Amino acid sequence: MPKCVLLAIESSCDDTSAAVLVDGEVISNVTAGQKVHELYGGVVPELASRAHHANIIPVIEKALNDAKITKKDINAIAVTKGPGLLGSLLVGIGFAKSFAQAMNIPIIEVNHMQAHVLAHFIDEPKPNFPFLCLTVSGGHTQIVLVKNYLDMEIIGETLDDAAGEAFDKAAKMMGIPYPGGPLVDKYAKEGNPLKFSFTEPQIADLNFSFSGLKTSILYFLQKETVKNANFINENLNDLCASIQARIVSILINKLKKASQLTGINEIAIAGGVSANGGLRAALDIEGAKLGWKTYIPQMQYCTDNAGMIAMAAYYKYLENQFSDLKMAPMPRLQI
Ligand code: KG4
Ligand code: ZN
Repeated sequence: MPKCVLLAIESSCDDTSAAVLVDGEVISNVTAGQKVHELYGGVVPELASRAHHANIIPVIEKALNDAKITKKDINAIAVTKGPGLLGSLLVGIGFAKSFAQAMNIPIIEVNHMQAHVLAHFIDEPKPNFPFLCLTVSGGHTQIVLVKNYLDMEIIGETLDDAAGEAFDKAAKMMGIPYPGGPLVDKYAKEGNPLKFSFTEPQIADLNFSFSGLKTSILYFLQKETVKNANFINENLNDLCASIQARIVSILINKLKKASQLTGINEIAIAGGVSANGGLRAALDIEGAKLGWKTYIPQMQYCTDNAGMIAMAAYYKYLENQFSDLKMAPMPRLQI
């Protein structure tokens, strides 16, 4: 008989996801995305929570079926407490509370950003403590000093836009639908990263800024489109490659600085932008040059997923860190 069977739910933004973990192993992970936001160039909170309502039961049923378990086997239910969109978080938390009450099991609340980091413990190889994790998503860009499973410190973060937002906003300027990051990545593979040059912002410490880059891309595209109305179409691959190369160099340069300052050579990346081909390749290349041990999650655990929520919840389960039916969403929860 397994000692610990967890059902985990993630609904902080625009992915509805459920996962089952048995004794520390994630054995199912099912995620439903939401196409509805494509039309609007970004996530529309009200539409996101409605789509979570529609998706949550089928996603959970599939996760239980894939794992070949029934509701009665579950010892605790884990759910994202924040950060995220209030209406989206409420759908997952509402379900978790009802389920906990009906089945008489405890709730484990999970910090979404800690969970992105702990996605590294789903598969081998697992990082050794302490390690640095660059967590890059649609809402966050952080360098996290990870001292232990549940002991983390943010040592650098963005002062304005997140890295994923920089990808998505640049994509929108080029007429690429939301979320633009994966498509910029795809077009960049066919493009020349040296064709256009965008300046790297000079930001103190380990912090990031992407708003200047966004403005310089906007002005550049406006200037070139006045001269040639077809400029973006004719240069899409090179534009994507050049923009991606600059975002990646900003991220990698800060990681190098963080490694120098802390003396830590165990380096991980996490979050939606860690799915980016340019970032993954750059981490491998720079890591090999600098003698880093690098950790890159499997694709399904980069973007939002409940597998990582289950993993984070497992460490809280081992420490007896349970919540009760009074738990509430925290849209601005910090690590
Ligand atoms: O972690 P995530 O799924 O959700 C948040 O917590 O925000 O990250 C979503 C972000 C979006 O901005 C999306 O465009 C970006 O990750 N993203 C990518 C790629 N895949 C997802 N950005 C660049 N290249 C990719 N392949
Ligand atoms: Zn996320």
